[in-house]
Amino acid sequence: MFIMAATGSAVGLGNIWKFPYITGENGGGAFVLVYLVCILLLGIPVMVAEVMLGRRGRQSPVNAMRELTREAGLHGFWNSIGWLGVVAGLLILSYYSVIAGWALAYIPEMGKGTFQGAGVVESQAFFDALLADKSRLLAWQSLFMVLTVGVVACGVVKGLGVAVRILMPLLFVLLLAMLVFAYREGDFAAAATFLFRPDFGALTGRSVLEALGHSFFTLSLGMGSIMAYGAYMPADASIGKTVLVVALLDTLVALMAGMAIFPIVFANPSINPAAGPELLFVSLPVAFGAMPGGLLVGMLFFILVTIAAWSSAISLIEPGVAWLIEQRGFNRFSANILLGLMAWALGLGTILSFNDWSGVTFGGFTFFAAMDFLTSRIMLPLTGLFIAIFVGWVMPRMTAKSELNGDNSKMYGLWLWVLRYICPPAIGVVLLVGLYDTFAAAN
Ligand code: PFF
Repeated sequence: MFIMAATGSAVGLGNIWKFPYITGENGGGAFVLVYLVCILLLGIPVMVAEVMLGRRGRQSPVNAMRELTREAGLHGFWNSIGWLGVVAGLLILSYYSVIAGWALAYIPEMGKGTFQGAGVVESQAFFDALLADKSRLLAWQSLFMVLTVGVVACGVVKGLGVAVRILMPLLFVLLLAMLVFAYREGDFAAAATFLFRPDFGALTGRSVLEALGHSFFTLSLGMGSIMAYGAYMPADASIGKTVLVVALLDTLVALMAGMAIFPIVFANPSINPAAGPELLFVSLPVAFGAMPGGLLVGMLFFILVTIAAWSSAISLIEPGVAWLIEQRGFNRFSANILLGLMAWALGLGTILSFNDWSGVTFGGFTFFAAMDFLTSRIMLPLTGLFIAIFVGWVMPRMTAKSELNGDNSKMYGLWLWVLRYICPPAIGVVLLVGLYDTFAAAN
């Protein structure tokens, strides 16, 4: 159940939409390599630490951190791990729901045959028209928000768990089918070269920071989601093995999405691999439009993307909800409505950033880009850094040992060493250099 919930949280828009487009923006192979190294060396150890904190604390992330710091007689500063997560979750949800709204909007269009026989030009025109229409964006974002808040408020998370158990494998199968299509119809070799042949000339401090931030984003780390789910993990389950399975599935889905999208991109010279957030929404509909049975496959694909986004969105809101219930006496229903409304209202900024406010920038970023930057490139790595320092250096050693000792003791030693000596300096340096590079480029 934990694997299902954690995979449901991890696999989402980050894998299918964001990974391909940021890979395109950052020049391909070298970025993918750095991303994989970040997952292995930083993401997995921090994920083990986060699950362990959750299982140990057995409460909402904010309270779990409060309990753990009090138990060890530590400074209240460490509570900020829980806090930062709740805030980051709301900020991420605010733009996540807008993008998930795009996926929702594509479901009926696929069914209607809008993309039947469409070329890149038509597909691009459709997407541009959608982004220009703020009331349509608002309607779809609101529908997605109602679905997310509704399912959590009604306490039907269990029902969703069952749905996810059936639908995630289906998403996997569908991605496989897309891969076969891309292999037969697209430029598979060009895509493989682009994704897997590193060209380090294209790499900057900024792109390394993006890879680091994305490795946390895609594994749902630095946010408390995984900590909140860790609270439900049985005491005798192996944290290490479970985390490895989740990270592997997550990475596989991202790479499959990349290999489904880029062959189509490279077979159509008018699609720019560095096009940004529109990459998935412009390139794949062209493929569906040309496929036999593409109407149905396309519809199914966007339904599955929506469901993957849905199970991630639920985990974005859960830490805040759990805290309001435990600490502020809210019931599940009102806690959800309150947080959902806050994220929804903030999402209006993201909607406008694609039309009326497209010229309004904050430090060189549109509202959407600023939200993304603040959360995935600053807040998540920062919380990840705090978690690594807290578990590696500050928390009493026995706590981690007793939680993890059921696991192989050699692996435990390796994990602790990486968490202490690799994670804090690596995350710290990437954060600093990345921020410096970003702002130097903006000025
Ligand atoms: N991991 C999700 C994705 O890749 O789409 C996004 C996400 C969910 C990030 C939950 C953070 C989180 F806590």
